[in-house]
Amino acid sequence: MKSLKVLNKYFLKYKVILGLGFLFVTLNSVLLTFPGVFLGKATNLLGQLIKHPEIKIPAGEFIWCGIYIILFAILGGFFMFLMRQTIIVMSRHIEYDQKNEIFDHYQSLDQNFYKRNYTGDLMNRINEDVSRVRMYTGPAIMYIANTLATVVTAIIFMVKVDWRMALVVIAPLPILSFIIYKVSARINEKSTALQEKLSDITSHAQESFSGVRVIKSFNRQDFFANKFENETAEYKKRGLSLALTEAFFMPFMIFMVGLSLILSVYFGGMLTISGEIKSGDISSYVFYIFRLTWPFASLGWVTSLIQRAAASQTRINEFLQTVPKIKNENTSHSEIKGKIEFKNVSFVYEETGIKALDAISFTVNPGSSIAFIGPSGSGKSTIASLICRMFDVNSGEILIDNTPIKKVNLFDLRAETGYVPQEVFLFSDTISNNISFGLKEKNAGTDEKILTAAKNAAVYENIIDFPEKFNTMVGERGVTLSGGQKQRISIARAIIKEPKILIFDDCLSAVDTETEDEILGNLEKLMKGKTSIIISHRVSSIKNADFIVVLENGKIAESGTHQQLLGYNGVYALLNKLQTVEKGG
Ligand SMILES: Nc1ncnc2c1ncn2[C@@H]1O[C@H](COP(=O)(O)OP(=O)(O)OP(=O)(O)O)[C@@H](O)[C@H]1O
Ligand SMILES: [Mg+2]
Repeated sequence: MKSLKVLNKYFLKYKVILGLGFLFVTLNSVLLTFPGVFLGKATNLLGQLIKHPEIKIPAGEFIWCGIYIILFAILGGFFMFLMRQTIIVMSRHIEYDQKNEIFDHYQSLDQNFYKRNYTGDLMNRINEDVSRVRMYTGPAIMYIANTLATVVTAIIFMVKVDWRMALVVIAPLPILSFIIYKVSARINEKSTALQEKLSDITSHAQESFSGVRVIKSFNRQDFFANKFENETAEYKKRGLSLALTEAFFMPFMIFMVGLSLILSVYFGGMLTISGEIKSGDISSYVFYIFRLTWPFASLGWVTSLIQRAAASQTRINEFLQTVPKIKNENTSHSEIKGKIEFKNVSFVYEETGIKALDAISFTVNPGSSIAFIGPSGSGKSTIASLICRMFDVNSGEILIDNTPIKKVNLFDLRAETGYVPQEVFLFSDTISNNISFGLKEKNAGTDEKILTAAKNAAVYENIIDFPEKFNTMVGERGVTLSGGQKQRISIARAIIKEPKILIFDDCLSAVDTETEDEILGNLEKLMKGKTSIIISHRVSSIKNADFIVVLENGKIAESGTHQQLLGYNGVYALLNKLQTVEKGG
């Protein structure tokens, strides 16, 4: 239950509405118990009428009893409406706050976190788990308050009638509570197991939707469907087992209520015969016992709600307590000029233990360009990630404008970096919004900027061929763009920012050599005065760079200008030769 403590800050935030809620709960409980008094009164009148038919009782007395019963029921109902309007509404506010808190935290976490956790799991926590927590902040709190208020009120009313009879009804309560506690512990175990399975199912379903193309082309639908069926079968099994335990509660409660009724009618009857109480008191009693039924019957359900919420909150806390490794340590503004210096940088990926970079050193001056070429897995993309500070280095140092990268304002650094990642990602939005994504404000002239960016990325012609032009939807529910079109939109998105640092990670791999030449020609103009990092497998894309680094297994194999490297007659010269032959042939 400790995990739920973190929610207290929300209760504090909504203390007024919560306080009102408790007030309404109490009023509702008291008002709904009063009809018992008038029921007793009416029964007594009836008893009198039967025993002494000669005494005339005005009909008005009966009618008034009825009116009071109805009046109290209506008033109680009104406060029930108000208690839902306060406590349940508060729980919706808390749900909203909590979702935002979790999402903000997700956004602050580094890439390692996303590598470690399944997307389905992340989604479950922000949806499923938050809803379960809401069942605690809303219904559970409301029913607990209601149970307390009703039990206290009913007991007071009972004692007022006759304390001995009250004792008969109250005595079994501790035993009852113990049994409820035991059973709900079982429910807790089972619902945790159920929740875990649900996470697996979500992750599995999500992966199969994202990978639908691969699944279909490899004819693996059956395999995935079977796997899904197995997962859901296990989920069903756990769900049924939980339902069985829960089903035990209701009959048990009804049995206990029946027992109380028999006992109070028996004792009440004896007391009536000995003349200590009136027969109407028995009917009041029956009414009070029925008032207690629902709060107790719901106790098991409420405890299971709380336990489920606690389990969910534990899972949420686990994420909320993950500290982002990459933090902005400088809140003042950093003016980025674009000098990048790697000093003996080594980097190991934490999850895999792969040493991606080994003692890399180079310097790029503001406004000049550097290119990285090398075989797959040689560490090119890793260098790009490190410049954006997606990770921090293990040893060595990266300097931006002669300042260690950790001391540079992270947001300024990223604002001044136009990054075209190797794996293009476009949002399910219009092309124009995808391109303007990097711009902070939508100022006047933005449309003009989008057009220019699209032209420079050589994707303009493609876009205007779509019926909806720049308003064409892309992504999951939009048109499917070709790999090359996606790459060029991604380039437009980076250059529209007019950043000081441009990083192109293999961004021309999916375009033909003609388009490549066109884009390179455009970029040359754009790259003027900006630091550019170009990563490629092709010599043709990088030969004009001011400085070229050839990577091999995370180490620098060769470096220099195109001409110098050709002169060395090493790997680069060989690569150039092979690729020119390919092109020529
Ligand atoms: N996020 C990651 N987590 C763990 N290991 C990684 C990660 N990214 C890359 N690696 C590993 O680091 C090494 C260098 O990868 P990197 O992506 O930098 O290569 P690359 O030169 O860009 O290759 P390519 O030309 O295929 O894009 C590889 O061995 C790769 O398996
Ligand atoms: Mg790469």
